[in-house]
Amino acid sequence: MKAFGGNGTIKRHYKRWWWVHLIVFCAGTLIIALCLIYVAMPKIAQTDINDSTLSFSSITFTNPAVDHLTLSGAAIQHSSSIFTPTVDPFNVTMHLVTDGFTAVDAITQIAMPRIHAHHPDTNITVDPQPVPILSSDQVTAFAIQLLNQPNVTVRMEGKTKLHEGALPAININYNASLTFAGLNGLPGFTVIDPVVNLSAPAGQPNLMGTALIPNPTIVTVELGNVTLNIQTAQAGVIGNATVTDFILRPGDNKLPLSAYVNTTGAVSSIQPGGMINLEIIGQTAVYNGVHLPYYETALKSHTLAVSLNLTQILAGGAL
Ligand SMILES: *[C@@H]1O[C@H](CO)[C@@H](O)[C@H](O)[C@H]1NC(C)=O
Ligand SMILES: *[C@@H]1O[C@H](CO)[C@@H](O)[C@H](O)[C@H]1NC(C)=O
Ligand SMILES: *[C@@H]1O[C@H](CO)[C@@H](O)[C@H](O)[C@H]1NC(C)=O
Ligand SMILES: *[C@@H]1O[C@H](CO)[C@@H](O)[C@H](O)[C@H]1NC(C)=O
Ligand SMILES: *[C@@H]1O[C@H](CO)[C@@H](O)[C@H](O)[C@H]1NC(C)=O
Ligand SMILES: *[C@@H]1O[C@H](CO)[C@@H](O)[C@H](O)[C@H]1NC(C)=O
Ligand SMILES: *[C@@H]1O[C@H](CO)[C@@H](O)[C@H](O)[C@H]1NC(C)=O
Ligand SMILES: *[C@@H]1O[C@H](CO)[C@@H](O)[C@H](O)[C@H]1NC(C)=O
Ligand SMILES: *[C@@H]1O[C@H](CO)[C@@H](O)[C@H](O)[C@H]1NC(C)=O
Ligand SMILES: *[C@@H]1O[C@H](CO)[C@@H](O)[C@H](O)[C@H]1NC(C)=O
Repeated sequence: MKAFGGNGTIKRHYKRWWWVHLIVFCAGTLIIALCLIYVAMPKIAQTDINDSTLSFSSITFTNPAVDHLTLSGAAIQHSSSIFTPTVDPFNVTMHLVTDGFTAVDAITQIAMPRIHAHHPDTNITVDPQPVPILSSDQVTAFAIQLLNQPNVTVRMEGKTKLHEGALPAININYNASLTFAGLNGLPGFTVIDPVVNLSAPAGQPNLMGTALIPNPTIVTVELGNVTLNIQTAQAGVIGNATVTDFILRPGDNKLPLSAYVNTTGAVSSIQPGGMINLEIIGQTAVYNGVHLPYYETALKSHTLAVSLNLTQILAGGAL
């Protein structure tokens, strides 16, 4: 091509080479469009996923077994993105986060449904599904944190495809952490309406009552048949308690408690004013005849304290 001399030269140039300019223009437009579609959009989509936050509105663990249980839940995804994409169903692994450190081994794997994002919050419902216990140690650690800590953090990791309008599917990495309230050691635990059965033979349940267990969390846990040791500082282990078909639900739980207390041990532990300070520590959690090691270890990690007025119980409610 010659250097352009003047107006006429430019006109002649375009008249002759217009198709070259058109091709260059189209190619440029195409490159920009392809860059947008294949480079910018995936980055925007991944950034939007990274910036979105997730919170549980409920999570439920039922039908426990040694290597699996049933999980269901609801979560809310919050995003400030202007896009409302759809992501394909995908599997996430759930990892426990302890002091900011994400465990490599997963607690479990959950099948997430197809999610169509709304503005600004999207409800996600995880239908009841059997999930594997991928690491018994991690489930145990999770259960211990849930019972003892004011809050618990988990991280959900997975890969899926995102669809936005007519654009090609975009591969995205899902990696969201979420924190929810834990049981914090069950500070509200108490035994209401305790009644002593003086005619019960030695070794048979002789103390009936109702365990009041406030659960301020969004978590439901089915533990099966739970036995707990009853001990005092003065006499050591003086008995045990059983809660059958223990299901801890959000809110105030009232569960029938049946206990055996050695009267000799109880009498030797009576404090001034007729009070007896009991320490209650879970021992076994058995579901359909199967011991659940992860819940048993968690139950043993915490001592529940309850003070009962033995004088009042014996005066008022003895059978
Ligand atoms: C998204 O977060 C991951 C870490 O979780 C990071 O490696 C990646 O660079 C982030 N991507 C974008 C596009 O921000
Ligand atoms: C999720 O995992 C299960 C079992 O590991 C597999 O059968 C299923 O195809 C996976 N689903 C997706 C969407 O990848
Ligand atoms: C999302 O779930 C919350 C309760 O978790 C409910 O109040 C709200 O109505 C739901 N929103 C939609 C769009 O379903
Ligand atoms: C979780 O509990 C710890 C210890 O009490 C507290 O420092 C932290 O702020 C809590 N985090 C959230 C997100 O509630
Ligand atoms: C998810 O993010 C956490 C924290 O940034 C990181 O430790 C972990 O390796 C990430 N997982 C994946 C699969 O990228
Ligand atoms: C008290 O114990 C006796 C003997 O085991 C039993 O027959 C009776 O049903 C018990 N009473 C109550 C209210 O549990
Ligand atoms: C109750 O405890 C005393 C010792 O504290 C013991 O001698 C007695 O055998 C126990 N009774 C039963 C029924 O276990
Ligand atoms: C409770 O203690 C009594 C007396 O020691 C014993 O017979 C019974 O088997 C114990 N029950 C449980 C569930 O441990
Ligand atoms: C709890 O024990 C009762 C009585 O032994 C039994 O009928 C019930 O099936 C047990 N529940 C579970 C969940 O195993
Ligand atoms: C226990 O109950 C008795 C009888 O009702 C009462 O006299 C006593 O003050 C109570 N003790 C305490 C510490 O409340």
